[in-house]
Amino acid sequence: MTILITGATGLIGQNLVKTLLKRTPPNVKPNQIRLLIRKRNGSPSRNSFVQWVVKMGVEIIWGDLRSTSDVLRFTNVIDPDKSVLIHCGAVFNFYQSYQLLYNTNVIGTTRVLHGFHSNRIRKFVFVSSIAVYGALRNSNGQGITEDHPIDCKQRKSYELTKSLSEECVWKYSKKYPKRLITLVRPSGVVGGGGTTSDIFARMFFGRYVPLPGGGSEKISLVDVYDVVRALIHFSNFDIGNGEVFNVVSFTPTLREFIDEMAYVLNRRNVKILSVPLGLFKPLFYLSRLIRTFKKPKENSLLLPVLFNKLGQEIWIDNSKILAHGLSPESTLSESMNNFHHFLADNPWYAEEKFSIAL
Ligand SMILES: NC(=O)c1ccc[n+]([C@@H]2O[C@H](COP(=O)([O-])OP(=O)(O)OC[C@H]3O[C@@H](n4cnc5c(N)ncnc54)[C@H](OP(=O)(O)O)[C@@H]3O)[C@@H](O)[C@H]2O)c1
Repeated sequence: MTILITGATGLIGQNLVKTLLKRTPPNVKPNQIRLLIRKRNGSPSRNSFVQWVVKMGVEIIWGDLRSTSDVLRFTNVIDPDKSVLIHCGAVFNFYQSYQLLYNTNVIGTTRVLHGFHSNRIRKFVFVSSIAVYGALRNSNGQGITEDHPIDCKQRKSYELTKSLSEECVWKYSKKYPKRLITLVRPSGVVGGGGTTSDIFARMFFGRYVPLPGGGSEKISLVDVYDVVRALIHFSNFDIGNGEVFNVVSFTPTLREFIDEMAYVLNRRNVKILSVPLGLFKPLFYLSRLIRTFKKPKENSLLLPVLFNKLGQEIWIDNSKILAHGLSPESTLSESMNNFHHFLADNPWYAEEKFSIAL
């Protein structure tokens, strides 16, 4: 059996590989794991992870999701009928060009699907996102369920690439209904570093955190270990085939989440600045206008997606995955505690990721 993983150096991927190698069961040996990793110098934690997997004897295929031949080499295994391919690799940020996002996230997924198909790998687990639901409006007390339509008409953005990549997976799944495919849609992933936590950490302006309406609306989040548990669950068992699952650990109010973040960031005396909800729409259009002419710098907070999402009571319903016997194990404070440890182990992280640019 081989577990093939893309995106292994990312937030979800690193935690997935570490969990697979630590856990008994599933008793996975390093030589049963194959990773597609780009050969490049990255952050200190990425570099030490890569050194660690090499030392452990995990099989690495050096390659890029933007190269068809790399992906075909990666998916060519000796035991495809016993193997599972977990596709986590994607560009998840709001600063890169749409062309790069599209080539990696959408065309990259079609390359991975092609490798899965032509090499007859047994199962495909695809990491999608709640971003596919697009610009939701207040859900009036109702959680968003999996049958909410995916929005493939969004403006060109990371979110659109997740919708389009899901669409490719659904088309394939409909064409080949006997192929084993499961999709998971994590909500904002926390519990380590990563794009979701970084954006919220950047909202601390000295002693102040501006929040829409004082932060009383809810936000659905998932601890990275709950995502990992879902991926292992659907890889191990032939359940949930041809289905998609929202993955959520907790749904605090924005204010509760920011209070926990304040603990992680050692900013216990922060004050919440309540921003009137009516300002968010004009700010959304203004940021969109600015972004038409000026590409955002890394770490920018002037992002249309932010003004579009904040200030709305939107939460994600996870009853479908609960009915499949998979309940979240992490609480918000445990998850934030893990983030706290992560920052202590990686002192470079906060300085590099939490500074703000326009
Ligand atoms: N984090 C969240 O809040 C969240 C929420 C919902 C869904 N998701 C989805 O979950 C998946 C993993 O997210 P994450 O948070 O773990 O992201 P991440 O930390 O940014 O990791 C992305 C991974 O994809 C790899 N990758 C990017 N471009 C690549 C390319 N051209 N070729 C090969 N590998 C490439 C990266 O490799 P390098 O190290 O070489 O860059 C990295 O391993 C993504 O599909 C994302 O859309 C994430």
